[in-house]
Amino acid sequence: MKKYNICVIKGDGIGPEITTEAIKVLDTVASKFNFDLNYEHFLMGGAAIDVFGEPLPEETLEAAMKSDAVLFGAIGGEKWDNLERHLRPESGLLKLRKRLNAFANLRPAIVFDDLAEASTIKAEALKGVDILVVRELTSGLYFGEPRGKNEEKAFNTMVYTKKEIERISKIAFEAAAKRNKKVTLVDKANVLETSQLWREVVKEIAKDYPDIVLDFMYIDNAAMQLIRDPKQFDVILTENLFGDILSDEASMICGSIGLLPSASIGGRVGIFEPIHGSAPDIAGQGVANPMAMILSAAMMLKYAFNEIEAAECIEKAVRNVLKDGYRTADISRFDAKEICSTNEIGSIISDYVNSDD
Ligand code: IPM
Ligand code: MN
Repeated sequence: MKKYNICVIKGDGIGPEITTEAIKVLDTVASKFNFDLNYEHFLMGGAAIDVFGEPLPEETLEAAMKSDAVLFGAIGGEKWDNLERHLRPESGLLKLRKRLNAFANLRPAIVFDDLAEASTIKAEALKGVDILVVRELTSGLYFGEPRGKNEEKAFNTMVYTKKEIERISKIAFEAAAKRNKKVTLVDKANVLETSQLWREVVKEIAKDYPDIVLDFMYIDNAAMQLIRDPKQFDVILTENLFGDILSDEASMICGSIGLLPSASIGGRVGIFEPIHGSAPDIAGQGVANPMAMILSAAMMLKYAFNEIEAAECIEKAVRNVLKDGYRTADISRFDAKEICSTNEIGSIISDYVNSDD
């Protein structure tokens, strides 16, 4: 029997609750499709700061590097907000992404038919939206040097190399080739040199993909277009910070940030993480939506283990659970048959996985 070793980092806030549900669903799908999942749990973020005094302890990094995949919940919280930047929870995640060379962050934003009413945007603009944000994840403003701050002045640097742009662009074009064959590069080429380089490099790469339509959009316009007519997008290719912002925006088109999964890939080991944060305001109450986490687990099955059928079985279960009217609080605007807790919806999804044939 195939066996996969997963480094699980539950993290802070709602991280533990939602990760527990993802593991519940993973266990069900593993026994159904006959493979073995071995989980080892490690600390990162605030939980690690409390125990080790640092957000990414060596043992977590080592375990991640040796694993077949990292399943990660969320990190951060008020308690650690005033620490120096390199000691903050977020620094642990950024270092993990960098050390695993997880430079490509794939963030699908799909509007489920049964949820079009859950969005604050009019349903008629939403039906059929299926976007993939391909966000560069290990460079740009997040990592650029020099950076610094004193009382009078603070600065960050946006740096991109041709190589960094090439490798993420290839991933975007490969993805588009399997989808609706369109890539939109989102940038600020009217102002930023880095964006000019992005355009030049992406145009070169596009020559290898004659079937794919490439267009360009400034980030301010893209933020507007995404709300005005989200159906015009297929693959959105963009740098780190723009992708961070646009993917949160895309989540509201889908109905809730609690729905969007992601895969951070490129190195030998990928990180599979929902796009949302640790939501300290609702932590521990059993109301968080675990679907983004559960769908991230499905992405892990697909991208890290090539267990495509199992991944699709989870996706189908989530779709059917929504179709049958089960909702968590975040998506229960009009039409909930039943408002479920984190644990209840996890169990229902797991039952749907089990009974599907
Ligand atoms: C995300 C998060 C992270 C990011 C934070 C927690 C560092 O917002 O995954 O989108 O900005 O990348
Ligand atoms: Mn974010």
